Amino acid sequence: MTHLELTQVAIEFPTPKGAFKALENVNLKIQKGEFVSLIGHSGCGKSTVLNIVAGLYKATTGGVILDGREVDEPGPERAVVFQNHSLLPWLTAYQNVELAVKTLFKGKKTKAEIKEWIEHNLTLVHMDHAMHKRPDEISGGMKQRVGIARALAMQPKVLLMDEPFGALDALTRAHLQDSVMEIHAHLGNTVIMITHDVDEAVLLSDRIVMMTNGPAATIGEILQVNLPRPRDRLVLAEDPHYNHCRGEVLKFLYERQRRPGEAATATKKPDAVVTPLPERPQLRIVA
Ligand SMILES: Nc1ncnc2c1ncn2[C@@H]1O[C@H](COP(=O)(O)OP(=O)(O)OP(=O)(O)O)[C@@H](O)[C@H]1O
Ligand SMILES: [Mg+2]
Repeated sequence: MTHLELTQVAIEFPTPKGAFKALENVNLKIQKGEFVSLIGHSGCGKSTVLNIVAGLYKATTGGVILDGREVDEPGPERAVVFQNHSLLPWLTAYQNVELAVKTLFKGKKTKAEIKEWIEHNLTLVHMDHAMHKRPDEISGGMKQRVGIARALAMQPKVLLMDEPFGALDALTRAHLQDSVMEIHAHLGNTVIMITHDVDEAVLLSDRIVMMTNGPAATIGEILQVNLPRPRDRLVLAEDPHYNHCRGEVLKFLYERQRRPGEAATATKKPDAVVTPLPERPQLRIVA
């Protein structure tokens, strides 16, 4: 049985000018523990796909099945990490995670076990030293780590991440990518991540799902990334398969899905960014 399956997903949004068909014929099967990235030009429908899997949007036709059950509402087994962390500003990192898990584990874990679990998840994202700080007292990268801890604390079968590192500088982003790879290796969750960053997609993914431009966007191509794990960005910079994958995604975005008026080159300011390799930091930088 397929773990997660999107079948013939289409969605129309009502607009003042009539129905707008954002997605059509989206078909995707994802195996348990797979790390899948969604990439495509801005506005093509990546967040819409993620929101349908999250149960936040309902497909107009088709649907999503997770472990044999149809997804028709949000649920803790599909936790979402948003680009802008979405933490409650008046609560500490610890309390933000606590809020998410308290109801979930009520009657299943004791108070002491819940505390231990919250601390465990904050430690997993290297936030144990700052768990009692509020969002305005920590950096953007640290807030994003708390968002990831909050999602992981729900023990989701599927972790859904919508450009989780989009708002971060290159170095912080690299640190968080490494953390996410570590966590994925450790927990083996299924992950769907949206990104605009070609290198990020290749570095983290088992498969890269490339979406066509909308309206009526769909999956254009799927690229398998056959690189052994654990992956090291510096070693991979010289790896032929890594560079092949990178080239394939760039060609898809800038040749096959080039938008009218855009030059056929990736050197122009693109929607998708190519992260420069950060120098290996000598300091332990906590993002
Ligand atoms: N609630 C909505 N009502 C009407 N149209 C919507 C709604 N949500 C999304 N759309 C439209 O559907 C299309 C896909 O939007 P979506 O947010 O999924 O794109 P995206 O690929 O995530 O873009 P970005 O990379 O900029 O985040 C866009 O044309 C958008 O305007
Ligand atoms: Mg989006």
